[in-house]
Parts: sequence; structure tokens; C-alpha cells
Amino acid sequence: MSASELASGILVLDYGSQYTLLIARRLRELGVYSEVWPWDDPRLEEALEDGEAPANGIILSGGPASVDSEDAPSFHDGLLDLDVPILGICYGMQLLVDALGGQVEGGDEGEYGRTPVRVTQPRGPLQAFEADEQLDVWMSHGDSADTLPDNLVPLAETLNGVLAAVAHRDRPVFGLQFHPEVTHTEDGNQILTSFAFEVCGCGDEWQMEDFLNRSIERIRDAVGDDEQVICGLSGGVDSSVVAAMVHRAIGDRLTCVLVDHGLLRHREAKTVRTVFEDHFGVDLRVIEAQEEFVSALEGVEDPERKRKIIGEKFVRIFERVAKDIPNASWLAQGTLYPDVIESTSTGGPSETIKSHHNVGGLPERLEFGLIEPLRELFKDEVRALGRTLGLPSNMVDRHPFPGPGLAVRILGDVTEQRLETVRQADHIFIESLREEDLYGAAWQAFAVLLPVRTVGVMGDSRTYDQVIALRAVTSRDGMTADRAHLPMDFLGMVSDRIINRVDGINRVVYDVSSKPPATIEWE
Ligand code: XMP
Repeated sequence: MSASELASGILVLDYGSQYTLLIARRLRELGVYSEVWPWDDPRLEEALEDGEAPANGIILSGGPASVDSEDAPSFHDGLLDLDVPILGICYGMQLLVDALGGQVEGGDEGEYGRTPVRVTQPRGPLQAFEADEQLDVWMSHGDSADTLPDNLVPLAETLNGVLAAVAHRDRPVFGLQFHPEVTHTEDGNQILTSFAFEVCGCGDEWQMEDFLNRSIERIRDAVGDDEQVICGLSGGVDSSVVAAMVHRAIGDRLTCVLVDHGLLRHREAKTVRTVFEDHFGVDLRVIEAQEEFVSALEGVEDPERKRKIIGEKFVRIFERVAKDIPNASWLAQGTLYPDVIESTSTGGPSETIKSHHNVGGLPERLEFGLIEPLRELFKDEVRALGRTLGLPSNMVDRHPFPGPGLAVRILGDVTEQRLETVRQADHIFIESLREEDLYGAAWQAFAVLLPVRTVGVMGDSRTYDQVIALRAVTSRDGMTADRAHLPMDFLGMVSDRIINRVDGINRVVYDVSSKPPATIEWE
């Protein structure tokens, strides 16, 4: 993307929040081109030296630091000298308050999750609301602005009196303590719309087709005329979309590899084979590696170790397959933005939450160049891309499934028997959802095997057996999620089916936590 295109879009400076790229994608949804730069990107220094704003507006993301802690990412004072609207979100707002002379305090408890706030002055990003209107917003912060400097005024506050939004008295500089970019902030899109179009004066020109064409060009350029690409196919949405994109870019120089690691869902390998080999005529190699994975996982209980072991094995298997394919020097992966942001602390501040096997699980020594065309996208954007590519809806609308598979849905030790238990319970849950037309009511649903045993009674006998947790969430992008409100009668029926049909289970529970503070998967 050329500098001139960013000049008419919005630059997001990343201070390490997990939600940073979500800001950029919300803007893309609005048709506004957006780029994310690390907060200390040298291009920003250059722009400040030249005194020229690199974009039509600048958003400072949230982040895990406290403004006064050692090594905290800092605010570039020169930003305020640029003639450009600025919006600080969460940590970004605290940076602004601090830079303008106010005070930021560490809260005793912080605020996490859905929080009502009252608009006191409808200006800037809040201009679409009425004075005194109450908004449900998503907070995720420990610190908060305590004392405002004279040049900042409050625009909204929580019912506990915590400042929720501020504005500069006479410049287009704003701060939001909450996250307008997450879908659980109900009017978040309206807030970003007001900032992008009204405050920054952006137009709405960006489209998914642009992204697709640019990515295909990039793949062609990278791969050249005679190299080959291997694509790890799991049958999930992401890898299917990547395979279709790479296929469109380089045709039959693509070989797909399905590693059956024994951690797949019920009949998954067979389904993938039918779809890709029989219907699409893709060169698909299925590698039977169940034993190899399960024995490598023997006795491993730590979730991060499980992920690393699985990630490493995957790549080594790809390397083995590649030896039979001349000129195979590229590996295409369906890595998404949430995988990247939750796995790495690139550029510094973002804290590692889980090593997604596509990313954090990669060994340091890798014999391939990586093609990861979805790295900036979120699940629902990938689905839109899949539709643009003409993939069938039963593939595009499947619930997400994690790369490390059922291994992260068995808490504790992974054994063949425990895999079979969770696989059967999961199958019953998913088939019941389909039967009752509830599959689409959940963004993702699955079963988890817990490492505890509880007492039950079956027939006239006491049992001391294992517990299955059912998890079903609503979400748009996997970054935040809420419990799905499945009918209690339905859950009861699934529980009965699981307890009656799956050996070794005598209790079923339903997980009602939201993300944050929980995550979607249990490990
Ligand atoms: P969490 O548990 O982090 O999950 O809230 C967010 C979404 O990501 C999926 N997930 C993964 N996907 N490789 C993947 O391809 C992984 O290692 C991985 N771990 C979690 C998860 O199923 C949910 O949709």
C-alpha cells in the first residue's frame, strides 16, 4: 500500500493490546484503509521530523503497561504538533492524559467486561449520542485517568465515576478508556465511524477484493516461476481459504498436506479427503501420524508444552513430505491475526497468552519460507474472503477448530482413551446442535474433558467418573466472546446423551464464562 493511500486512511499505533489489529479491521469494515505500526516505528520518527502526518487520523491502541512503569512504551510529544486528529484507546488515553499533564492511577481492582457508561458531552467520537445517554461498553483495564489537566474535559464516565472518555478543549484529540473496537461494546462501530468520517474526514473506499488481489500478487511474486508450495490443510476455514488463494495464485504448483495427528474431530480426515481430493481435484497427501503425536504427548500436562510439541512435529512432517516434492521451498499456513497476537510479544509490549501452533509453536530452524496471507485478518474476514473466492458455505461457515486439536481440550495428560472420550462427547454435542438447528447460534462449540472425577449414581451403583464441560460462545472474531444462550432443555438433552453414551463420564457442566477474562479454549 503506498504512502498516499495511508495518507487518506488511519494509522493505528500499537502499544501492545491484543485488540490492536481489531481496530484496523473495524476501520477496514467501514471501508477506511488502515495500517498498524509498532509505537516506536522508525517511519513515525521520520514523519515527526518532517512535520507531516502519515495519515488522516492516528489511533493509539491499548496495551498492558502502566504509563509510569519502567520501560513503558512512551508517547511521542511531536504527535501533538502534527495537524492530525488523535484518538487514544485505554492505555492510549492514559498516555494522552499523562502527556498533557494529568494523572493516571493504578486502580485497586480495575474494570473488566461489560460496563455501563454515561455520556456527559456528545463530542468527537461520541457525537452521535445524546447527553446523558447510557452506553454498554467493554472495559479491560487496571489503571485509569485520575486527574485531568486543564486542557482536557470529560466526555463520559462510568457509573462508578471513573473517566470513560475525554477530549482536548480545542483540538481534535480524544481518549476512550474502553474498547470501541470489540463487538461487545454495543455502539463501538458508531464511535469509530464518527471518529473516522466526521473527525478525520476519511472516505469509504477499501474492499475485500483489493485485499485478495494484492495477496495473490504477493504470493506470485514471492514464489516465482518454478518453486512449489506446500499447504497444511486441516479442513478448517483458514487453511481451506489459504489453499484456495495459493491455488489461484500458482495453480498446480501447490501440494496440500493433511496431517492426521489423531487429535482431529470425529471423521474429520475422511471429510477433508472427500472435499479436497474428490471435489476440488487438489493434490492432497494424507499423512497418518496418530501414533507419532500421541506418543510425543505422553505425560505432558503443560498446555504451552503441548502446543510447542505439536507445532514442531507438524513442521518436521511437512519437511519430510517436502523432500519428495522438487523445489518445495514454501509453506503456506492459515495463521490469523488472533493466533499471532496471542502467541507473540513482537515489537515488545503484547503479552503472550497462548502459543498458537501456527506461530509460537514454530521451531527456530525452519526450512521453508512462510506464506501467511491471512496474518492480518480475523475469522469473519477470512469467511468473507472465502466467499469472495467462491468456497462453499459448509466449508466457510464451520466452527473454528484449533491447530493443536483435541490435545488442548483434554486438560492434563493426552491418551488414546481420553481422546476417544472427548471426541465422542464433542460429536454428540455438535450433532445435537445441528439437529436442533442451533449450530449457527454458536460461533464455536465443543466439549472439554476435565482432569477431575466426581461421584455419581448410575442404576443402583455409585460411580466415580470424569466430567465433560460443554463450551459454546458467541463472537465475531474470536478476540472477545460471550457465552451462547443455549436453551437449558437442549443442554439437558446433550448431557443425558453424553452420560448415557460415553464411557467414563458421569457429569456434564456448561461453561458460562466470557472472554475476557477467560479464553475460548480451556488451554
Ligand atoms: P482462545 O482460546 O485463545 O481462542 O480464546 C481463540 C480462537 O482461536 C482458536 N485457537 C487456535 N487456532 N491454532 C489455531 O489455529 C491454535 O493453536 C489455536 N488455539 C486457539 C480457538 O479455537 C478460538 O477459535
